[in-house]
Amino acid sequence: MLKINQVSTRIAGITVLRKIQTEFKAGSLLAVVGRNGAGKTTLLRVVMGLIPSTEGTLEFDGDDITTQPGYMRSGLGIGYAPEDRVMFPTFTVEENLRLPCDVLGLSKAEIDHRLERTLVVVPQLKEMLPRSGSALSGGQGKMAALGRALMAGTRLVLLDEPFQGLAPVLANQYAESLRRLRDMAPELCVVVTESNRSLLRDLPDDTLTLERGELTHASDAAGAH
Ligand SMILES: Nc1ncnc2c1ncn2[C@@H]1O[C@H](COP(=O)(O)OP(=O)(O)OP(=O)(O)O)[C@@H](O)[C@H]1O
Ligand SMILES: [Mg+2]
Repeated sequence: MLKINQVSTRIAGITVLRKIQTEFKAGSLLAVVGRNGAGKTTLLRVVMGLIPSTEGTLEFDGDDITTQPGYMRSGLGIGYAPEDRVMFPTFTVEENLRLPCDVLGLSKAEIDHRLERTLVVVPQLKEMLPRSGSALSGGQGKMAALGRALMAGTRLVLLDEPFQGLAPVLANQYAESLRRLRDMAPELCVVVTESNRSLLRDLPDDTLTLERGELTHASDAAGAH
């Protein structure tokens, strides 16, 4: 679905991603594991179109999207939950969830339908809907950010360190949501970054390691493939 071909990115003169070569495939949950500063957030932001790549190409369903801006990528069905969550504080949680779809100009019926599905995947969001985006705890904010990513991300969902700092009960609920998502949307590709791979439990089908901007296939090193 999404091919990343030899993508490099420099920020402020420093090479942050080096010749990344991989494919995000439909129907898989892919983990990208790397230490602090390895480039995980940068990789997701480049895929989302929020940071330009300085070299290489991105292909979505065979189309070159390298220079496409972020809003067009959400139109392709790519959703993103940033590690800092960012809910708009003056909007309710429901408005925050609907916003990406409103921006895309989707019909009310389609947005209602997506919200309904999202609430099946993340049922904890139901009671949060009328609350202000600023009234959530850190863990609740992560659930809301997952919900918002699912509203736009019908093909590919990018989750940046979702388990980091989550209390155990919420981490269990989050993992359950990802399992439910897999049952409800078997063709979806979910990419999850984490610095501590044990937080991901047995969720990933495949794990890539990012080290100082270079991506390697963890299972290659282990000789599993
Ligand atoms: N706006 C920026 N200006 C300068 N350097 C940056 C900027 N954004 C990222 N970097 C550098 O790029 C590298 C990768 O950062 P990135 O945030 O992608 O890593 P990360 O793997 O997400 O780290 P963390 O686990 O801390 O979230 C780091 O060395 C960081 O200092
Ligand atoms: Mg990061």
